[in-house]
Amino acid sequence: MILISPSILSADFLMLGDELNKVTQAGANLIHIDVMDGHFVPNLTMGPLIVEAVKRGTSLPLDVHLMINNPERSIEYYAKAGADYLTIHSESCIHLERAIKQIKSFGIKAGVALNPSTHESALSYVLDELDLVLVMSVNPGFAHQQFLPSALKKISSIKNMLLKSSNKNCLISVDGGINDQTIAACAKAGAQIFVAGSYIFKALDYEKAITSLKTLAQA
Ligand code: DX5
Ligand code: ZN
Repeated sequence: MILISPSILSADFLMLGDELNKVTQAGANLIHIDVMDGHFVPNLTMGPLIVEAVKRGTSLPLDVHLMINNPERSIEYYAKAGADYLTIHSESCIHLERAIKQIKSFGIKAGVALNPSTHESALSYVLDELDLVLVMSVNPGFAHQQFLPSALKKISSIKNMLLKSSNKNCLISVDGGINDQTIAACAKAGAQIFVAGSYIFKALDYEKAITSLKTLAQA
């Protein structure tokens, strides 16, 4: 399975409705929304208000990535705003297992993200509960950073953990520095969802960009 999830962090916010239409027409499978709080990461971006607006602007599922401290305090707002996948960071959540259950209590899919320096063993006691694991291939906080190759080993290792587990539906997503040079290796390692911001939104032709990513990932 190859799913492309354009990150609107690199979209033109003055034209967000048009940008959503364009990536939807261009073959995107999900819309990735990067929520940053200025604490867990240095950058400050969007909140439930934008998630709610994006929900009205696309029929694609919303892949909401919370880069915030104490995510359990805000899960309800993002779920009610229309998140279809809600992903929290293992590093920012003390009671991870409880927070995953909280996400699922809203009838939506739960994901856990790992920073580049976090070992995949952080997932071992919650893996059976997850719909998505998001492997960060840059340090979170900004678009257009360089892909960290250490993500490849982590993706393979998580794929093996999943194969050995009873969880047969969990998807592996990779986020950060995904482009025509990096996507094939991520697909080979076992990723299925590819988050790409600048590669898509800085391209002149979104359809060409998304098609090239899909083709490279399939090969
Ligand atoms: C980084 C975000 C990413 C980012 C990806 O903190 O989680 O989703 O927008 O942007 P690119 O594809 O430009 O690396
Ligand atoms: Zn993201």
